[in-house]
Amino acid sequence: MGIMHRRIGKMTNTWSLFAVRSWILVVALSIFAATFASGARAAPDECAIASAHPLATDAGCEIIAQGGNAFDAAVAVTAALGVVEPYASGLGGGGFYLLHRADDGFEVFIDARETAPGQADATKYLDADGEPVADLSRRGPTAAGIPGIPAALEQLTQKYGSLPLSRTLAPAIRLAENGFKADSRYVRVSGWMVNMLNRFPESAAVYLHDGAPVAQGHVIRQKQLAETLRRIATGGSRVFYQGPMARQMVQSVRSSGGYWTMEDLANYRVVEREPQRFGYRGARITTAPLPSSGGLVMAQTLQILDALNVEAMSEDDRTHVIIEAMRRAYNDRARFMGDQDFVNVPVDRLASRAYAQERAQSIDLRRATPSSELPSIYDVAEEGTDTTHFSIVDADGNRVAATLSINGPFGAGFVAGDTGVLLNNHMDDFAIALASPNLYKLVGNAANAVEPGKRPLSSMSPTFVENERGILVLGTPGGSRIISMVMIGIIDYLGSGGADARDIVSLPRYHHQYLPDRVQVEPDSFSDEWIEALRSRGHEVEIYRRKWGNMQAVFVDAKTGERQVGNDPRGREGVVF
Ligand code: DON
Repeated sequence: MGIMHRRIGKMTNTWSLFAVRSWILVVALSIFAATFASGARAAPDECAIASAHPLATDAGCEIIAQGGNAFDAAVAVTAALGVVEPYASGLGGGGFYLLHRADDGFEVFIDARETAPGQADATKYLDADGEPVADLSRRGPTAAGIPGIPAALEQLTQKYGSLPLSRTLAPAIRLAENGFKADSRYVRVSGWMVNMLNRFPESAAVYLHDGAPVAQGHVIRQKQLAETLRRIATGGSRVFYQGPMARQMVQSVRSSGGYWTMEDLANYRVVEREPQRFGYRGARITTAPLPSSGGLVMAQTLQILDALNVEAMSEDDRTHVIIEAMRRAYNDRARFMGDQDFVNVPVDRLASRAYAQERAQSIDLRRATPSSELPSIYDVAEEGTDTTHFSIVDADGNRVAATLSINGPFGAGFVAGDTGVLLNNHMDDFAIALASPNLYKLVGNAANAVEPGKRPLSSMSPTFVENERGILVLGTPGGSRIISMVMIGIIDYLGSGGADARDIVSLPRYHHQYLPDRVQVEPDSFSDEWIEALRSRGHEVEIYRRKWGNMQAVFVDAKTGERQVGNDPRGREGVVF
């Protein structure tokens, strides 16, 4: 593990076989115990699903056992995660699905990102002095974009799946109806958000107990959500976007100050996009295109590393260069990126090797470049121009990498009418005003300004990495840090690291996003010398208060065909950002 050999005690998975049961999500339905004894590797007829919750993984494996493919399983896992991780994703949110169909090699990126309501322009999020009001884009119905997940479930089913929604939604309906036991993560996250949830009595009634965080083991039942899922299972996504359910959501949102209309819901469409592709160290990377910034940020960062041949450098030089490359790529995120259906983004140039080469030349090997010396977001401003991830590989080789989100923990905190649907707060992923930082301290300009119908810029990055060693399917929640986490996984895997999914999800993490101008590092993960080497080059280093991310990966070994699952050990610790 050359890249980080000086870090302190790489996190290793030392889970007992029984603790692993729920988290290592290789469920050999008949030879369950033997699977774990063999180290989380799936035989050809087994189920290789890495998700953030054991009950969601079980839901996917149940569908695979019924003869469903990876795409059917993705529907089941999506719906189940929305029930058992209500703070992270759900019918009221959006997400991205990267698919690979084994039959013909067809690959597509399903963009189920939320859209801004037709009446939500930039002025709606500012006070009388033109200053952003954070609450408007973060709490309550004004924060909510038009959800994409119900449409995504139908798209996956109709175009790629083999089982009807009535089968694939059944596990989620059961979990919502009968309830699930709150785990330590649920207790912790609901504890953080108790004030927001108490602002909305319908939310407090479901997600809290008498206005207080529930105790671990408390059973969370979501009867209304079960009914909504049941109606979608029989009527398709149309029952969500049109008719009485839509009317009820619109009324509820508008009576609490939000902007949704019936037309906004009826007009919502998922978009199938070409994935962003590029090469790094001879491997083929397939990942998220706009409106996720993930693909372009990764293409620039990793191609800069190729241009400078970082693998030949000392560890200190290499870490410095990785951080400088991140700084530059996130700088371009802030300057250029937004929904390409609304603004012109120089995608080809930003993704090109020539551009990476040019950016690489501005890196000083001895000194950090202050972010203030990079081109500013103002230069192009006039041109007008709590999340979850799962990875699935089925026995036929169909793959899904999906990152889904309602944004912050418990999203907007607002449940629409009596549908049980908790709404997202993804309006905050827009640049509400020039240089005004969002929840993740990301800044942007006109490229990512609010416009009716536009999709807010995202960092969610479901990714495939392929070379002669095999195929790695990965992704994670974590806001702006998603991209650096996925890159650290790729750099280690394609550098001197091993091809072990469990190691990749456990790697210690650091992050630079241009602004704020500092390197964030996970606590208890790097040696004093490693940190000092960065400081001596002029980097401000912040030891962050907790670890971040919840990466879920599946690795398929090219030689043996074995599939191996890695669940981020941080997930058990309640980390969601
Ligand atoms: O789309 C994005 O980039 C963010 N809304 C993702 C949020 C997230 O990952 C929260 N994480 N725990």
